[in-house]
Amino acid sequence: MDARLLTCARLCSGDVLCDIGTDHGYLPCYMIENKLCKKAYACDIAQGPLSSAVQHISERGLSGQIKTIVSDGLDSVEKGDITDVVIAGMGGELIADIISRCVWLKEGINLVLQPMTKPELLRKWLYENGFCVKRELACISGRFVYSVMQVRYEKPGHQLTDEYLHYGFVAPDTDEGRRYLKDRSNKLRTAAEGMIKGGKKTDLGQRLLELSRLYE
Ligand SMILES: C[S@@+](CC[C@H](N)C(=O)[O-])C[C@H]1O[C@@H](n2cnc3c(N)ncnc32)[C@H](O)[C@@H]1O
Repeated sequence: MDARLLTCARLCSGDVLCDIGTDHGYLPCYMIENKLCKKAYACDIAQGPLSSAVQHISERGLSGQIKTIVSDGLDSVEKGDITDVVIAGMGGELIADIISRCVWLKEGINLVLQPMTKPELLRKWLYENGFCVKRELACISGRFVYSVMQVRYEKPGHQLTDEYLHYGFVAPDTDEGRRYLKDRSNKLRTAAEGMIKGGKKTDLGQRLLELSRLYE
């Protein structure tokens, strides 16, 4: 379990986990073994990763508590008693697409999302579709830094500002948080400089450059 998945586990809150894109099934195994949930569904779109999950779950003697399901997103998963849905290790656009196809995520589910790319697109989609980011934590995994969002279907009580889109609610009060904000600032500056140098989208480039200065 790396810091990324440990942070996802930290933001879960109920008894029944559904892990979408589970791959080896590490998260559900960890959650059950550490009594962080009572039951789990380990889901993946592909049979290959799911076979590794089945093996890992069985080796740890957890087959009674973890059910594996082949599913594209949540398409083949029924709400039942699920309290928490984790979607980690995928791009921000794919995560938004998976959420958009599942109506029961609006029924009191604690959603934990960890985008590998384009967190700003995910934040925008969540905001515009009535999902509120309640908490956001940064984590460092290997050479990279990520944010993990805890989300609920409820009207966001804040504005959709450019600063929020690009930096989220990550606070600069931990090493991980400061590194995340700096990383986002660097990415914004690189994108802005490319736009300004290319002579196209120079207004947007200037705006992104201003935003990059918030945490440089
Ligand atoms: C990079 S792995 C992430 C594994 C784990 N969630 C993590 O964060 O370490 C991405 C996994 O998502 C699965 N996946 C990709 N698209 C999916 C979809 N639409 N629905 C379900 N699983 C998907 C892949 O098969 C793969 O096992």
